[in-house]
Amino acid sequence: MKTTREKLDELKRMKERASLGGGAERIAAQHKKGKLTARERLDLLLDPGTFQELDMFVTHRSTDFGLDEQRVLGDGVVTGYGKVEGRLIYVFSQDFTVFGGSLSEAHAEKICKVMDLAMKNGAPVVGLNDSGGARIQEGVVSLGAYADIFLRNTLASGVIPQISAIMGPCAGGAVYSPAITDFIFMVEGTSHMFVTGPNVLKTVTHEDVTFDELGGATIHNATSGVAHFAMPTEIDCLRQIRKLLSYLPANNMEDAPVEPSDDPITRADESLDSIIPDNPNRPYDMKDALRAIVDRDSFFEVQEQFARNIIIAFARLNGRSVGLIAQQPNVLAGVLDINSSDKAARFVRFCDCFNIPIVTFVDVPGFLPGVAQEHGGIIRHGAKLLFAYCEATVPKVTVITRKAYGGAYDVMSSKHVRGDINYAWPTAEIAVMGVDGAVNIIFKDQIAHADDPAARHAELVTDYQEKFANPFIAAARGFVDEVIEPRHTREKLIVALDMLKNKRDSNPPKKHGNLPL
Ligand code: HXC
Repeated sequence: MKTTREKLDELKRMKERASLGGGAERIAAQHKKGKLTARERLDLLLDPGTFQELDMFVTHRSTDFGLDEQRVLGDGVVTGYGKVEGRLIYVFSQDFTVFGGSLSEAHAEKICKVMDLAMKNGAPVVGLNDSGGARIQEGVVSLGAYADIFLRNTLASGVIPQISAIMGPCAGGAVYSPAITDFIFMVEGTSHMFVTGPNVLKTVTHEDVTFDELGGATIHNATSGVAHFAMPTEIDCLRQIRKLLSYLPANNMEDAPVEPSDDPITRADESLDSIIPDNPNRPYDMKDALRAIVDRDSFFEVQEQFARNIIIAFARLNGRSVGLIAQQPNVLAGVLDINSSDKAARFVRFCDCFNIPIVTFVDVPGFLPGVAQEHGGIIRHGAKLLFAYCEATVPKVTVITRKAYGGAYDVMSSKHVRGDINYAWPTAEIAVMGVDGAVNIIFKDQIAHADDPAARHAELVTDYQEKFANPFIAAARGFVDEVIEPRHTREKLIVALDMLKNKRDSNPPKKHGNLPL
């Protein structure tokens, strides 16, 4: 019989063994690839000393293919809970040194356990993914185990924030767990996501691509829009996750934490008065305006590289989290197209799920014309953004800085889709379409029959501009609540959001709407 001392020593030895995962050699191989281990990542993600590990001694139950000879404590994933800036989060971190981080039934059960705890206790889940996918030796059992996670991801959506970091391979159906979560982080050079890998592509479609070209951080951030952040190193990635969490509430019943700001509420920024060029076709950088308005250093952009004609970002106004959606006139004149509609729609819905007020800055010449856009389904995609704004019941404050043309005027958090407070700068032009297009259509005959068609066209353009290219017609109808001096935008937004902080609004009872997908 073992003495108590011996039992304590045995526990210590087991913990040490579990901490080593797949062993020193595989840890060295992981480091050689420029990757940290599952535990090193958790140390960087969580506040020091706060990690509470669960299921450290879980092992797989397989006996096929000699697996009964290879049982590793923890079975390739480190799970538990801890704190970020003193706030609870649940975590799982896949350990590539154990069966390539592949997902067995037992490995999935560990992940499901923390997800269930997170749902019961209302706190975010952060998953650090580094896995060869389904544990091949377990066959369909592993597929079922993946589905158990997908189901939980879906049920947790809109209840608790879910964040995925891809820190190694993520292939096949395994990509769909991160895809259902709210934000995906990738690390340049070492993380990859694809449904079908380069080797299979070579034989099936005869395409010859590298892992990076197919599903690296740059592709998924700039081209596919699958990911939201591309970070140069794992350390940057984990820091960025901590920062993102600071803008989010723990769950859908709470408000985001308030971060006291010494930036004065009434701070007026004169540069805003001259940011809009005199020539309405000249671009400007909307990010300059946003940074000048929100709390100092609080601007935190999401999906920076994708659909750059629209900006989505978290920021704070007088310490409170807001979601910013803004056209970027510097890219494609800020037009709404398929990708920018998708990008903004998902962000609006995220903010609405999690009680984060939406502040929209509008400078939109309309939807992007073209066969590619029409055939690509701009109708279906644009409808997502319209739907998202219409159904959102969080406080919605809008600032029209310049153009608000056509259907895009309605879509971009207009009064008609329940914008609560809608401001316009004096430079706003709210119209059915741009001046040239409008004059050419409604005065086609007059121009054609004029002695000097060019002069008549110019005259009509000036007339039209004076009459319609301003915010006052909309203001006369109450479609714009106030025309404000740009320099006072910060104060106006803070005061409006304070007025709206107890807003109660709801949608008709239903199972769920039918978002155009
Ligand atoms: C079991 C696996 C594994 C897996 C890797 N390993 N993937 N074991 N099941 N899926 C093991 C390897 O045998 C090896 O064990 C160790 O992990 C490290 O793998 P290496 O190949 O040596 O590493 P590396 O060269 O870095 O390559 C990593 C990799 C490659 C690209 C991930 O291992 C790979 O292609 N694995 C298979 C990926 C895959 O096809 N998975 C199924 C995808 S479909 P030792 O003992 O040598 O250290 C899928 C469906 C999900 O996942 C469906 C959900 C519905």
